Amino acid sequence: MNRFPRCDATAAWAALRGHFEAHGREFDLREAFARDPSRFERFGVEAPEVFVDLSKNLVDAATLHFLADLARECGVEALRDAMFAGAAINNTEGRAVLHTALRTPPGKAPLSAEVHGVLDAMLGFAEAVRVRAAGGERPLRHIVNIGIGGSDLGPQMAVAALAQYADPQLAFHFVSNVDGHDIASVLRQTTPAETLFIVASKTFTTQETIANAETAKAWFLAGGGGPIEDHFVAATSNVDAAARFGISRTFGFWDWVGGRYSLWSAIGLPIAIAIGADPFRALLAGAHAMDEHFASAPVEKNLPMLLGLVDVWYRNFHGFTSRSVAPYHHGLKRLPAFLQQLEMESNGKRVDRDGHALTYGTSPVVWGEPGTNGQHAYFQMLHQGTDTIPVEFILVRESDASAGGGTDVRDALARQQRMLLANGLAQAQALMLGRSAAEALAEHPAAVAGSSIDAATLAAHRTFPGNRPSTTVLLDRLTPRSLGALIALCEHRVFTSGAIWGIDSFDQWGVELGKELGARLLPLLEAGANATAAEAVDPSTAGLLRKLRR
Ligand code: F6P
Repeated sequence: MNRFPRCDATAAWAALRGHFEAHGREFDLREAFARDPSRFERFGVEAPEVFVDLSKNLVDAATLHFLADLARECGVEALRDAMFAGAAINNTEGRAVLHTALRTPPGKAPLSAEVHGVLDAMLGFAEAVRVRAAGGERPLRHIVNIGIGGSDLGPQMAVAALAQYADPQLAFHFVSNVDGHDIASVLRQTTPAETLFIVASKTFTTQETIANAETAKAWFLAGGGGPIEDHFVAATSNVDAAARFGISRTFGFWDWVGGRYSLWSAIGLPIAIAIGADPFRALLAGAHAMDEHFASAPVEKNLPMLLGLVDVWYRNFHGFTSRSVAPYHHGLKRLPAFLQQLEMESNGKRVDRDGHALTYGTSPVVWGEPGTNGQHAYFQMLHQGTDTIPVEFILVRESDASAGGGTDVRDALARQQRMLLANGLAQAQALMLGRSAAEALAEHPAAVAGSSIDAATLAAHRTFPGNRPSTTVLLDRLTPRSLGALIALCEHRVFTSGAIWGIDSFDQWGVELGKELGARLLPLLEAGANATAAEAVDPSTAGLLRKLRR
């Protein structure tokens, strides 16, 4: 793996630098479309379940050519093959990275027997829970997932995305924060007898999750909820710790499943309970279809690779530090939060795989809100702010929204879907085309009545620079299969940029220091108002501790 040079030492990197100076810095999308009206056909990419329009990006054929060379020189394909084969590519933890094996049909990936054994057991349990929800004297009504980070964001995002497929008799809650307000607000909505708690933690040591699980157990026992084993299950790779907690039913997974890549494992139990076994298998199948595309398509037609390469182009050549995600489907409202962890925890690194400091930027800030909400919050900055922030629009052609109530309601909802799509398209268009000062002046040739500024000054405020790039990701419908493909696409895209940057995308040492210091500060907070700090802390923290202990 190390026979490949670091990206900044490759010929392609130098070629890209020259290409950027000659054509990239001043690249203008409007001129590019005028020169080549077939950009949409040229830069549209098909992959399983997904079509992506890259044509509104600051790239031309030469850019993609040099980027593909960069991928080859950096050994992205070799690293990808090593990942699929189960090599220990997470080198700082000495672990394989095999979340792809979790969604591969039996017998076709490493560790298949273990994977499918747990999958079958988990799906059997999920179906049994759905039966318990359907009837009996004391039916289950609430599923409470207690987990954080990858043990929360993936299942939470997917359950929301697939709400149309979910069992309507069950309410799903996701408790993550160590702040007791989080779990307290959920416990107030249910009773012990009608609740199933899923304690989801790969390590079963995460402070927030264990604290919430202890609170849930105390509440459950105080409420006389019945046998713990009927109401608490765990998804974890630390079966012993779960047993010490008092949980006898555990669905395991392995150290080669990273937390942020774990929704395909036992961590996906809430999803399986929500949608049932067959749709869960469809989710896996969609992801597997994307895996096969990633594993076999040539770089120039490989969608995850192309997205990851454009990310590198923006981050390292244009110098953009952020990317905004705008899913135009309300079910995908938690996708930006999920992607934030996926990308920033994976690629927010400052040294290469050999521990040498990097001389180039890595993970952008990834953030966003569902459209159209974001339009009325921060799109102002995207259109007219001083920074260029590439935007990723996710559009879903067909809506599943239904509310009963007959034809009028159906027509109204259908119209809302058309409005939603028109809004997404319009934002991408406005970012690209902008509006010149002359156009702004022509539209409002007179000053605003009652305003002290003249028409030309007003036109300056109403000018949009345009040439702001965006990518449009298109799904036909949001189904378990298409969601699986979409998430796998995002995972492999992050893999690609991480491989180019030569970093370990599968560790997360950056979360450790805060955890250690938190553990040291807790006793100082608990020591009482007059206690002398047992150990030296910096003056700012000491001052804040004094105020908090008052
Ligand atoms: O925040 C660090 C982290 O380790 C994430 O990578 C992970 O998803 C999360 O904590 C939860 O970890 P666990 O599943 O072990 O409780």
